[in-house]
Amino acid sequence: MSNQFDVVVIGAGPGGYIGAIRASQLGFKVACIDEWKNAKGGPAPGGTCTNVGCIPSKALLQSSEHYDHAKHSFADHGITADGLSIDVAKMIGRKDTVVKQNNDGILFLLKKNKVSFFHGRGSFVKAADGSYEIAVAGDKPDTLTAKHVIIATGSNARQLPGAPFDEAQILSNEGALAIGQTPAKLGVIGSGVVGLELGSVWRRLGAEVTVLEALPTFLGAVDEQVAKEALKLFTKQGLKVHLGVKIGEVKANKKGKAASVSVSYTDAAGAEQKLEVDKLIVSIGRAPNTTGLNTEAVGLKLDERGAIVVNDHCQTNLPNVWAVGDVVRGPMLAHKAEEEGVAVAERIAGQHGHVNFNTIPWVIYTHPEIAWVGKTEQALKAEGRPYKAGSFPFIANGRARALGDTAGFVKFLADEKTDEILGVHIIGPQASELISEAVVAMEFKASAEDIARICHAHPTLSEATKEAALAVDKRTLNL
Ligand code: FAD
Ligand code: NAI
Repeated sequence: MSNQFDVVVIGAGPGGYIGAIRASQLGFKVACIDEWKNAKGGPAPGGTCTNVGCIPSKALLQSSEHYDHAKHSFADHGITADGLSIDVAKMIGRKDTVVKQNNDGILFLLKKNKVSFFHGRGSFVKAADGSYEIAVAGDKPDTLTAKHVIIATGSNARQLPGAPFDEAQILSNEGALAIGQTPAKLGVIGSGVVGLELGSVWRRLGAEVTVLEALPTFLGAVDEQVAKEALKLFTKQGLKVHLGVKIGEVKANKKGKAASVSVSYTDAAGAEQKLEVDKLIVSIGRAPNTTGLNTEAVGLKLDERGAIVVNDHCQTNLPNVWAVGDVVRGPMLAHKAEEEGVAVAERIAGQHGHVNFNTIPWVIYTHPEIAWVGKTEQALKAEGRPYKAGSFPFIANGRARALGDTAGFVKFLADEKTDEILGVHIIGPQASELISEAVVAMEFKASAEDIARICHAHPTLSEATKEAALAVDKRTLNL
């Protein structure tokens, strides 16, 4: 029957659509269900990443970076940009176009790979005789049967208790990516990845941005030296970051043009404070999304956070039901979701799909960018693992000077005895691209010496990577 599939994937974010494509490549009959709607009510596959995450945030970061360059750096190059202005509506329109190109691209890829796409909400109906029945509720309700189910239903932004998102004043990532004009005052709760990236966008466009963070440490998961440099640079850019706060009442005042939000909080010294802003982004992490899946119908096990419980192979407690991406444990990153999608498809095919959690790169797309892979220096100290460190600043790199982008450094951490690379941390221009070399090196268990001996093109930013590797052995050539 046409609605009988080997593999049904629920969710077409990076975990789901990539898993579906890989399963189809491996010869399975595959369906992928996704409920996301575009402005016209049509399908918009790609999930959070494509619609309200990775892609639109990078589009706005690019636009705002152009504006920032025109405002602050063009003059250094002898370029005059009098009467500079930004048409925010056009910037948002461009972002929407980029999103649509990606939605259309994914629909094309699914078709090209013979994956049947169903637009609507997928939910478990029952499990019987080695197969599952999945209902699709949407414009064209349907029922599918599947030998294997891959759940890739992603995550949703967490709300502050007592301050639900209205996407007008109190914004999740969705509202924060669609602000119609630059707010004079913007508040951000949570100095994590979303808060820093989207806070940077609106800061560059002229908003006064105040970030309130509960933890006493800035970017605690990042290498301490990098986090310290980042805080210094972001503060210089005008981001006001308050650490160690306790958020009290958050109140939206919806009075037409005077609409605002007031946030009461206790600062790190214990004093009561009040922040009045035009808009407030709440970016305090994300919660796994299993809404509407009807997990109870089949007895799918969730943990106390609402994440689907899986083992190292992304197997759930149910036979032939798998789960990948933000809806399971591990970092909430698009590339992690993709790797899990591929690994699961390969496991279904009897292969040995595997995701190496030790070499998943992280990137924060601020300016300068921050990227890292492997262990931080503080983690190595805590483990008591003997290590050597070497770093190289971009100020001493010819290409960075030519670009006029010299803030930051590359830092290597290597095993004291074997010289194996244990972690690489970059804050600086194109850190997001530079980190790939470190990921490849760590996958192949390279030593710092290996990187130090590889010929890097001149003049490139990647020479800073080579020099940092040389610095591990205290033999930089350009410093
Ligand atoms: P999702 O992308 O969330 O996709 C899940 C899909 O499942 C959605 O389309 C949803 O509609 C659908 N769905 C859910 N339930 C059902 C159902 N019952 N039936 C049918 N469909 C359903 N990560 C990075 O690696 N790099 C970045 O630069 C980056 N930037 C980000 C910026 C922002 C502002 C945010 C919020 C996140 C960002 N992320 C980034 C994180 C990234 O978006 C997620 O890690 C990634 O999207 C997770 O992929 P996923 O496939 O697990 O889920
Ligand atoms: P996050 O986990 O990165 O940061 C949340 C921050 O909010 C933390 O610093 C936390 O201490 C703070 N916080 C939590 N509760 C708070 C409270 N009540 N008051 C004040 N501060 C509080 O989460 P974020 O920024 O929402 O992003 C969600 C996920 O999306 C991230 O885990 C990340 O993996 C992913 N993402 C990835 C990006 C990238 O790869 N470049 C970009 C954006 C998001």
